[in-house]
Amino acid sequence: MPAIVFHLHGKSPETEGITINVQHADDGARGIDQLRNTVAEKFSIALVSTVSFHKSAPADTTASELKSLDTLNEITVERTVAILVSGKKVRSAPGPTGGIPFIGGYSEIYPDFMGNYQRLLSKYGHIVHVSYLGKSVYLTDDPDCAGLVLSEGDLYRKQIGENHPLFPLKMSIPNGIFTADSDSPSWSTSHKFIMTAMGAKAMRNYVRTMDHTANRLVHCFNEIRTKNTDVDAFSWGLRAAGQTIGEVAVGIDFKMLDDADSSVASIFQQIGRTLQLAQTLFRKGKIYRALPNPEKREQKATASELNTFVHTEAERILRESGTRDMPLAKAAVSTSSLLDYMLHATDEEGRKMDVELVHQNVLTFLGAGQVTTSSALSWLWYCLATFPAQARKLYDSLIEAGLHVDKEITADELSKLEYLDWFVKETQRLYNPAFQPTRQAQKDIIMPGGILIPKGAQVTVALHSLMINPEHWKARTQDPLTFDPDRWGTEDVRKRHKNAYIPFAAGARGCIGFNFALQEIKIVLARVVLNFRIENTTEGAVIYDPDFSLYRPLNFRMKLHKQVDPAAVKAEAKTMDAVTETLQAPKPLVGARLLPRFWAVHASNNGTCQGMAGDVAARARRIGFTDVQVVSLADSPLASPKKTAEVAAGSNLFMVFVATYNGEPPDAALSFSEMLDMELRAGNESRFAGINFCVFGAGNTQWGPTYQAFPKKVDANISTLGGNRVFEKGSGDANADQDGDFTQWVTRMWAATAANFGVDIRGRPQGGMATDNMLNSLEYQPDAVKVEFVQRSNTSQSTVLFHSILIGCDA
Ligand code: HEM
Ligand SMILES: Cc1cc2nc3c(=O)[nH]c(=O)nc-3n(C[C@H](O)[C@H](O)[C@H](O)COP(=O)(O)O)c2cc1C
Repeated sequence: MPAIVFHLHGKSPETEGITINVQHADDGARGIDQLRNTVAEKFSIALVSTVSFHKSAPADTTASELKSLDTLNEITVERTVAILVSGKKVRSAPGPTGGIPFIGGYSEIYPDFMGNYQRLLSKYGHIVHVSYLGKSVYLTDDPDCAGLVLSEGDLYRKQIGENHPLFPLKMSIPNGIFTADSDSPSWSTSHKFIMTAMGAKAMRNYVRTMDHTANRLVHCFNEIRTKNTDVDAFSWGLRAAGQTIGEVAVGIDFKMLDDADSSVASIFQQIGRTLQLAQTLFRKGKIYRALPNPEKREQKATASELNTFVHTEAERILRESGTRDMPLAKAAVSTSSLLDYMLHATDEEGRKMDVELVHQNVLTFLGAGQVTTSSALSWLWYCLATFPAQARKLYDSLIEAGLHVDKEITADELSKLEYLDWFVKETQRLYNPAFQPTRQAQKDIIMPGGILIPKGAQVTVALHSLMINPEHWKARTQDPLTFDPDRWGTEDVRKRHKNAYIPFAAGARGCIGFNFALQEIKIVLARVVLNFRIENTTEGAVIYDPDFSLYRPLNFRMKLHKQVDPAAVKAEAKTMDAVTETLQAPKPLVGARLLPRFWAVHASNNGTCQGMAGDVAARARRIGFTDVQVVSLADSPLASPKKTAEVAAGSNLFMVFVATYNGEPPDAALSFSEMLDMELRAGNESRFAGINFCVFGAGNTQWGPTYQAFPKKVDANISTLGGNRVFEKGSGDANADQDGDFTQWVTRMWAATAANFGVDIRGRPQGGMATDNMLNSLEYQPDAVKVEFVQRSNTSQSTVLFHSILIGCDA
């Protein structure tokens, strides 16, 4: 049995090779397949079929020049054998490199992460690496890779480390089924218990509740229709989804669908906010997360309110339900809610789920069951409005199947509605709410294509890119971007790669609620289509929310029109032929909000601070701020309470540059300094409420004890008096390298600003709106996209803005 040294092509057989005893006799394909298996295992090559053997050659020999060794006979005469993977030399993942220090590839991804994922994967191949803000992200849109990443085995597992998109959410709900690590006991316990409650039998029990909810939604929509107004789609999706999951998870009627004026219950608003904060914190990177920041504070407060809610409900159920402990399967069909179930179900050894874990899982379900479904419903309604021919075909198909506005929908009926199924699938393929299931590499892994993923890396399956990957989605219309439900009836699509369509992810950590979700959205869609035609009344383009853990429309408004009489369908004797008129699915733009007013403020005797203020102002203008002013501290809005309040009412950002003279403020800032003293004495903690600021001090260490005295005072006092510090104070030392200190601070400050607000800092022509490289995706029209710049304060201004957008209760 010859001992042969195998090595990756380009690596040294002596130092990095692995010796394998290869059976001499060539018993055909089986022998070499076995060898491939062994080699794949030893070198952690994820997919055995990608391994090929070659005659060793110098490292710089191109892969195509290597002589391949296709049989054991050819291999066993060699002392060393080179390995290629997918016919390629093993290498690191490609991706954008360089960029501004620290920020790295931030603007390669944000704010239009959806379009940019697509752009990067088209440009660099099926696995891409991007690092930014101290974060390292791998993306893939390849079904083989997706299958491997989501397989939950020796190679990859869901482990939510700092680079994982769910990391900030884990801070709020560490052990719930969604956020627990795969190797934690909490996950296996939760999985075991919840699987049973999500099984097919239990699912049939929910059809009634779901249909009832759908009819309540129709009732509200009818009221709205008669008023001839339009509605914010997402907020109504939220009411419908929240109502259902509220009843199923905690047995409460949250009264969100009583009439057209019903509002979204606060518990669901808080859950939405938690997800939003999580995505914002993820986007801003780990350095920002490590510092005290307003999002973290708000997240903690929200989590505590959510916990109180669940504790109270659990106690109520234990008091009132009268349910006794019983085995899982029985509990799944005889308890009054998921919470009741989790509190009373016992496993085969009579054990129950820990109460704390029950609480976290209930919260998880309230969240997972609501925002996903509401996003999905919004996109379904969007597709009804955007593709009227397909919407009509859907209506016709429901009427032909015997559905009726006044008749309950049954589980059997639902399972037979083929076109409804296709319509939902096609919508999820193009507009799926989930977009970033991510798993951690358990070791160094060589992926198909010869890409090396290092141990510990988080790999994200870019679901949207995967589900429009042209190598797998060319059926019928030859265009993956065409909205074509009929493609699901074609052989091509039936025979597609099994991981080319995975809107609910895959593997053990895939969506446990997918049956529930599909049943619910199909019932609501059917009910809505039986009753209404939908018109898109959004002003301008529909945009998506870059600060949300799910893909959802931010501003889609719709008007409901009475559906045509079913008799007309029958009279027209519609055939169920494929719709020939197919349209490209529009890609929503990234969310837009305006940049704040910007003040570069200075207090200078000799002009250094004034110069610095001028520099940042010029940069701000290049970035796209339109309202930029350079002003002395004494003349700035900060000096007068009235002006401060006026400015604080809107979106604002102050960068303050001040010096010290013999421990005192520069002359022009003396009165400002006195004002600070006075306000402090008065304890006026809201003097600077709503003001976003940061301070850089010019100084000189030769002045020893009074070094930076005034900048320190300004920084500390504005904060004590209610201002929101958006970046740490900087210090320049004229005794050393003040310019260098300034440049360094300014670079980090813009980086944080970019991360905070989703601003590309590489500069663009003046004009206020982002242009070229902020949104450099291929499909998006850059000039139609605005930058999002949101106050990072915990002031009412930003919160209201977020909430009104998120919840959109303004029917
Ligand atoms: C259209 C709607 C939905 C979509 C697209 C969706 C998608 C997903 C995806 C992609 C995952 C994997 C997440 C990851 O890998 O990090 C997931 C997990 C999960 N989903 Fe859904 N989901 C939907 C609705 C629901 C509903 C209605 C529920 C509950 C009733 C639910 C409960 C869960 C739970 C508990 C997990 C975590 C499972 C685990 O990690 O073991 N989902 N979902
Ligand atoms: C007379 C004099 C006194 C100073 N006193 C201090 C001091 O107490 N603390 C300090 O950090 N810097 C001190 N400095 C350094 C200045 O703050 C520094 O040079 C700064 O860059 C000046 O900024 P400006 O040109 O914007 O006025 C002093 C400089 C001078 C000329």
